[in-house]
Amino acid sequence: MRRASPALLLLLPTLAHELTSFGESGGQANFPRLVAFTLAFLLVLLLTAYLGYRRARTRGGSEVVWAVFPTVVVAVVGAMILMAALNFQPTGGAQLRLEVSGRRYWWAARYPDLGVTTAGEVWVPVGQRVELRATSRDVFFSLAIPGLGVKIDAVPGQQTRTWFVAKQAGIYGGRETEYVGPSTDKMRLRVLALPPEVFDRLIQAIEAYPGPRLEGRARRGEALFLARCAGCHTAKGTPARGTEGPDLSYFRLRTTFGSGVWPNRPSFLRTWIADAPAMKPGVRMPAFHDLGSDEIEALIAFLEDLGPSGFDLARYGRLR
Ligand code: HEC
Repeated sequence: MRRASPALLLLLPTLAHELTSFGESGGQANFPRLVAFTLAFLLVLLLTAYLGYRRARTRGGSEVVWAVFPTVVVAVVGAMILMAALNFQPTGGAQLRLEVSGRRYWWAARYPDLGVTTAGEVWVPVGQRVELRATSRDVFFSLAIPGLGVKIDAVPGQQTRTWFVAKQAGIYGGRETEYVGPSTDKMRLRVLALPPEVFDRLIQAIEAYPGPRLEGRARRGEALFLARCAGCHTAKGTPARGTEGPDLSYFRLRTTFGSGVWPNRPSFLRTWIADAPAMKPGVRMPAFHDLGSDEIEALIAFLEDLGPSGFDLARYGRLR
């Protein structure tokens, strides 16, 4: 037994890969096995420590310390692991479903049950369980939202899932953490956690929003947008149906653009429209050096008219 137990310890981790949520049956079905595994691992460790202690006692000397100390450490760590395992909750039972899809260098987002599409920023109600599904239309990405305890891989052709609850109103900053090119650090996802009644009002307004009511300069902006930008961008209520870039239907609601990087203000948008690659190296949006400043102003006026009005989401904007 004394010889066998270290060998057993070496063998146990080889079984562990079957217990992760990447297994074929998913994390859910593995839960009882995860607990059994944790208990077995703890038992073997304690047994080994106990045998060491007994041996040290029969031989005498300070070796007792070497047996007691690891036993305490193992017992504490084991208890922590067990508590974490008992807290483990499968996905499902979500009150809201949200899907994100990675593109170099931005996150497309969709609420499948609400038929709402956006990018770079998402809205969730405080205190409700949100199921988050991730995929990629591009390379392998990995999204981390530390404030919500989210870390999820986004893999082409697959859907990974997790869930979270935002406990307080505010903005939870998410980042793409896998190196995918020069603008890896500029591929963020901001989760705006809103009081549930504000969230409901927002979704109702978005669903009822027919499209922009344009006048003057914004109308000129629309014509330019349809000629130059609509191949890649969608704007609800206009003929623009492009999907290469973010859906701009509710652009007015964004507190930031460029996938959560720059404040949604005309000063930043001017530079962006004229030369996006200068701001975000490797971006799949071309520079428009030929546009005059009045044309850019018209485009900005159009963009700032997209989406329902009357929501000042920046109010909830404390970063958590
Ligand atoms: C060839 C495709 C393409 C064309 C044409 C294009 N864009 Fe884009 N656009 C993109 C892509 C891709 C992004 C996402 C960039 C990123 O954040 O990585 C983007 C992002 C944006 C954003 C920020 C959106 C957000 O939510 O972060 C704005 C605003 C924008 N484009 C405006 C325009 C305007 C105005 C034009 C026309 C003058 C235009 N785009 C033409 C591809 C395009």
